[in-house]
Amino acid sequence: MRDLPVGFLDSGIGGVSVLREAVKLLPNENYFFFSDSLNNPYGDKSDDEIISRCDEIVQYLLEEKKCKAIVLACNTASAKAAEYLRNKYSDVPIVAIEPAYKMVHDFAPKGFTLVMATRGTLESEKFAALYSKYDNGNTELLACVGMADLIEQGRFDELDKYLEELLGKYRGRAENVVLGCTHYPLAVENIKKVLGDVRFFDGANGVARQLKRVLEKAELISSSERTGIIDFEDSSISQEEKNIKHKRFLSKISI
Ligand code: DGL
Repeated sequence: MRDLPVGFLDSGIGGVSVLREAVKLLPNENYFFFSDSLNNPYGDKSDDEIISRCDEIVQYLLEEKKCKAIVLACNTASAKAAEYLRNKYSDVPIVAIEPAYKMVHDFAPKGFTLVMATRGTLESEKFAALYSKYDNGNTELLACVGMADLIEQGRFDELDKYLEELLGKYRGRAENVVLGCTHYPLAVENIKKVLGDVRFFDGANGVARQLKRVLEKAELISSSERTGIIDFEDSSISQEEKNIKHKRFLSKISI
């Protein structure tokens, strides 16, 4: 049981930003990453659509891939489906991510803060609870519609234009930026081109630490002393697209 993989899921390759933190902290674990790029983006889908799709993927990860634990490496899926999945698969550790707004409260509470996330995440009840608890009165919430898509498809020239339009007005003013979608850490350099040297906050490291705690508590930490295996699967239809995704995944996972 201890040497079975930890299953990761995201609507695409964004969740690699979480997986690489887990690999740094828990290098001896085996991992299986499911990238649902056929159904990307999740950010504009209804709660029911996200719940049912995540349910199918989790079932696949547990039954076919024999995963011992699940990480929802997607803020949107976490906001909308984590509760349902934890109730349904109550004997499986399920770790979820949320926008790292609490970190702003802990480390840089006064600064003008932008929370960048999908519309789905920002409109969720889960995020509303987090925001009302840690609101610093100096924050703007930005629903970055279409941004995860541009990153997923590697359209970085278009992304630069998109970010200039979205963020240009905050240049010189923004101090903290919460990367509330797991795709966004893959675009940090692009965001810096517009906003300069801001402080970035993302939940990936916290999720990795939470995964470690949860595996320890359940006595599921790998007993292997060798570096673990990282498997990848993408839901695209054509083999060509699957290969492109796999290649991009490998280039992002290298740490
Ligand atoms: N990576 C995702 C997130 O953290 C989802 C992006 C999307 O599919 O819209 O929210």
